[in-house]
Amino acid sequence: MKGIVLAGGNGTRLYPSTIVTSKQLLPVFDKPMIYYPLSVLMLANIRDILIITTPDNAGNFKKLLGNGGRFGINLSYAVQEKPNGLAEAFIVGEKFIKNETVSLILGDNIFFGSKFSNILKNSVEYIENKGGGYIFTHAVKEPQRFGIAEIDKNQNVISIEEKPEKPKSNYAVTGLYMYDNNVVEYAKSLKPSSRNELEITDINNIYLKKGNLKTEILGRGFAWLDTGTHESLFSAGQYVQTIEENQGIKIACLEEVGYRMGFLSRDDILKQELTSSDNEYYTYVKNLVR
Ligand code: DAU
Repeated sequence: MKGIVLAGGNGTRLYPSTIVTSKQLLPVFDKPMIYYPLSVLMLANIRDILIITTPDNAGNFKKLLGNGGRFGINLSYAVQEKPNGLAEAFIVGEKFIKNETVSLILGDNIFFGSKFSNILKNSVEYIENKGGGYIFTHAVKEPQRFGIAEIDKNQNVISIEEKPEKPKSNYAVTGLYMYDNNVVEYAKSLKPSSRNELEITDINNIYLKKGNLKTEILGRGFAWLDTGTHESLFSAGQYVQTIEENQGIKIACLEEVGYRMGFLSRDDILKQELTSSDNEYYTYVKNLVR
């Protein structure tokens, strides 16, 4: 399975902080936001990852992450000229996806919870063996702000609506999606919505109509954090700080994930120039492999 991190968008809600940089490069406590979604794809054992950025900010993403070798992954880059909608990621990424299955994650989505690696492993296996689409839902307080899934007792999706005025449930569709290779053709067949975007919800509805959409409800003990406003970005940082200080572990430390997934050896990490930096993050990385 290939992976795509969609890290475009105007970030206007976070102005002035995002006038000269991307939202996904802003820090969430001790690392840039994009580290969090990247760690999710890595935990799903995905090593070929495309990062889609705005034309203006492509250079800074490359400067930060390079070819991914530091984390044991292969990164490529592409540009989305305008924020034409999440589903455009599959059109921009068509050549990268080739004939494989693909997982898309939004560059501003933070996931954290016990057994998440198992959930990811199972969903990747499901798509690779059975095809179709896989979405992950999570209860939210303000369902009007999200794509909302109506789910029956057996965890089957009945309907999905984008930002409904009268939500049929409080289960939001989170910004992590897995699909078979048909997604590229489905994305190309979409018409822009009333807000002039190619909607990921329309893609999910195509799979739903075909009886091919599976969902996993991420339960109570699971955190799916929003970073869309100054308040939620600040709270996400505080959440990460609380967990990290309490447990003495880091969330989304990409060197650690690469090491634990077997993408990198101890020596691979210790010979890296950055690892010699005298700072808290790299001291953690060094202590981990020592
Ligand atoms: O976060 C989950 C929600 O994401 C889902 O519940 C919704 O179904 C889905 O439509 C989407 O909701 P929003 O429309 O509110 O997403 P937003 O426009 O905030 O974009 C999400 C991120 O993706 C944001 O960081 C900017 C980036 N983006 C957005 C668009 C429209 C792009 O990189 N390119 C784009 O074209």
